[in-house]
Amino acid sequence: MNKSIINYQPIIEHIYQDLLLRKNYGEVASYIPELAGIDDEQFGICLAHVSGEIYCAGDWEPQFSLQSIVKVLLLSMAYARLGGQLWQRVGVEPSGTPFNSLGTLEHDDGIPRNPFSNAGAIVISDILIDLYENPRQALLEMIRAFAGDESIQFDKKVAESEKNEGHRNVALVNFLKSLGNIHNDVDEVLDLYFDCCSVSINCQQLAKTFLLFANNGQTIDQQHRLLNRSQTKRINAIMLTCGFYDEAGDFAYKVGLPGKSGVGGGIVAVLPNEFSIAVWSPRLNEKGNSYRGLKFLEQFTTDTGQSIF
Ligand code: DON
Repeated sequence: MNKSIINYQPIIEHIYQDLLLRKNYGEVASYIPELAGIDDEQFGICLAHVSGEIYCAGDWEPQFSLQSIVKVLLLSMAYARLGGQLWQRVGVEPSGTPFNSLGTLEHDDGIPRNPFSNAGAIVISDILIDLYENPRQALLEMIRAFAGDESIQFDKKVAESEKNEGHRNVALVNFLKSLGNIHNDVDEVLDLYFDCCSVSINCQQLAKTFLLFANNGQTIDQQHRLLNRSQTKRINAIMLTCGFYDEAGDFAYKVGLPGKSGVGGGIVAVLPNEFSIAVWSPRLNEKGNSYRGLKFLEQFTTDTGQSIF
């Protein structure tokens, strides 16, 4: 196995220490009450390289809520089974709108602009109910296999908390159903979506899982494959253009990597054929993306020159 050419450890630690000295901004996601009680100054990083090397700093061990990052995995599960037919139900265009927007759906006849908006991920959840006998189990098994960790679980309290308060998602699934793009029972679809968002994960488990997008769709030991090379390219392209909602352009401009954020404060980004890097810091900017996570990644690609551009 080739070693990574760069020793990332001192680079990651330096940026981590530097950001700790700077003022932190943003608010934790409180619209899911169970997420609101977290220690919001936690800050962790892990880079997993295709060579098998792992570099971590800060609070990389505590688990956090995967939230919207799971949308990339749900999309991959659907795309792996359905191929291009999937695009009849959801588009691949950046929306330029917030993650929970209902705005364009009526105009677009119920076809969400992309799979990373809540609307898009809810449609994907509906599709997964038709494709998999037990989609929850299939998701968990996939994450466990790619992370190399059998202990990864859903957090039932987080899922329940979102179920009680997720009024916009209730509106979205019903609106999509009225427009003909939800085939199953709306409650069943939403339950699956909330459960999937609730997966608990830490930076190292997340970086290892997303290494599949840096490694042409498979684990580095080649024991597990989810996507082929072309499918992996396409998922990475959607992460680059749509991974950060109405901040996707800014992320591409400042960081220059495909990536995905979640309101648990996680961000994961990928440099194809090199590495996947997970950053976690719960305080979010006004677009719902981790304030420190974005700062870290911007500095990281600037200092290392390791971006797709
Ligand atoms: O549906 C929701 O609102 C959450 N379960 C996920 C949203 C999310 O993570 C947006 N990302 N930054």
